[in-house]
Amino acid sequence: MDKLSITGGRALHGRLRVSGAKNSTLPILAGTLLTDEPVLVRNAPHLHDVTTMIELLGTLGAQVVIDEKLNVEVCANNLTQLCAPYELVKTMRASFLVLGPLVAKHGKAQVSLPGGCAIGSRPVDQHLKGLEVLGAKVSVSDGYVYADAPDGLIGADVYMDLVTVGGTENLMMAACLARGTTRLQNAAREPEIVDLGNFLNTLGARVTGHGTSTIEIQGVEKMHGGEHRVMADRVEAGTYLIAAAATRGSIKLVDVEPDTLGAVLEKLQQAGAILTIGDDWIELDMQGKRPRAVDIETTPYPGFPTDMQAQFMALNAIAEGTSAIRENIFENRFMHVQEMNRLGADIELHGHSMAVVHGTDQLRAAPVMATDLRASSSLVIAALVAQGTTIIDRIYHIDRGYETIEEKLQQLGGSVQRVS
Ligand code: UD1
Repeated sequence: MDKLSITGGRALHGRLRVSGAKNSTLPILAGTLLTDEPVLVRNAPHLHDVTTMIELLGTLGAQVVIDEKLNVEVCANNLTQLCAPYELVKTMRASFLVLGPLVAKHGKAQVSLPGGCAIGSRPVDQHLKGLEVLGAKVSVSDGYVYADAPDGLIGADVYMDLVTVGGTENLMMAACLARGTTRLQNAAREPEIVDLGNFLNTLGARVTGHGTSTIEIQGVEKMHGGEHRVMADRVEAGTYLIAAAATRGSIKLVDVEPDTLGAVLEKLQQAGAILTIGDDWIELDMQGKRPRAVDIETTPYPGFPTDMQAQFMALNAIAEGTSAIRENIFENRFMHVQEMNRLGADIELHGHSMAVVHGTDQLRAAPVMATDLRASSSLVIAALVAQGTTIIDRIYHIDRGYETIEEKLQQLGGSVQRVS
């Protein structure tokens, strides 16, 4: 099993291109199932989760062609099955996003209940409730969800009890081919939802309000082919900015969408980073100074993202002062705390949702284990500042969400090697 070997103590400096967004690519690939015509998805990142989604599309019978620039062309005109099997869905929760498109287009779908990162129970009740409101008959048995709508879905008002990114995406896609108008209320407002809405509209859907908490979708009879460039990955961008800040470095990110990073950029400024921001680039400079501790509370977009909580905790671990971190989205997203404390951090947990981080001026290398995707990148950041060589085990979690992380960090002067 691959590990990362990281020798800490070097400030990150340099320029880096940000990859396409994983969390946008996955729903967009699922959305290609809504049409019989070919769809070209550009700027997809080279990641394990993206490969899993492509494999799932292939299993359903879609033809997928990937070129050397990682543009993915999908043609779903001749599906051979409408079942997303447990083997694929269990490794990646986002596989569940094929449910909406399949039942909308084919009137029928069978999708395994999801797995994914071990960061809480992560139910799918809102996805299912919404599909029922749109007229599907939904049942769960033997670990599978069965959805039937032989006469097609019917547009309706759907109120989501909580803000769910995946739930909003699944229902948005389903509603595209429903008869009549659907209004999704209390919808997620994440930039990836905006990207998905824009993508669906290029295929002939009629989606408005994406990016606000009420999304309106006027159903169309048929969608057509098209081409879409996936937005930049805001979590990847934020992770490298935080890594540069933690190591007291200076970096320039290019091909990034600064507007999608508001809450994170504000926290980095509070931590002492000097930021210069252009249309599609961000420069961060710590001027060699130690960061200041900053309190964080995760909330749905536009609040501070849960996907960057762990990385900011690593920064707070070596910052000057004490900070409080509250996690409001997932109930088990502090698994990195124990590992960070093995590196000499001083973090106390108060229940499932609150951590108090006492900044120390030096972390020390130790063997640690990655537990979930974003937790792994927080350990990478901690290792980059720790004295000595840290070995991070189980980095397959990192490969799910970060494209060639060791190469990108080497490019910035980090001493990072992949070892087996
Ligand atoms: C997506 C992102 C993930 C991010 C998360 C929150 C992708 C592929 N993944 O995950 O990186 O951390 O948004 O920003 O885009 N919930 C329910 N019932 C439901 C659905 C969700 O109770 O039917 C709960 C979840 O357990 C969780 C919260 O709602 O506590 C938010 O989950 P959700 O926004 O759905 O996350 P994902 O779409 O799975």
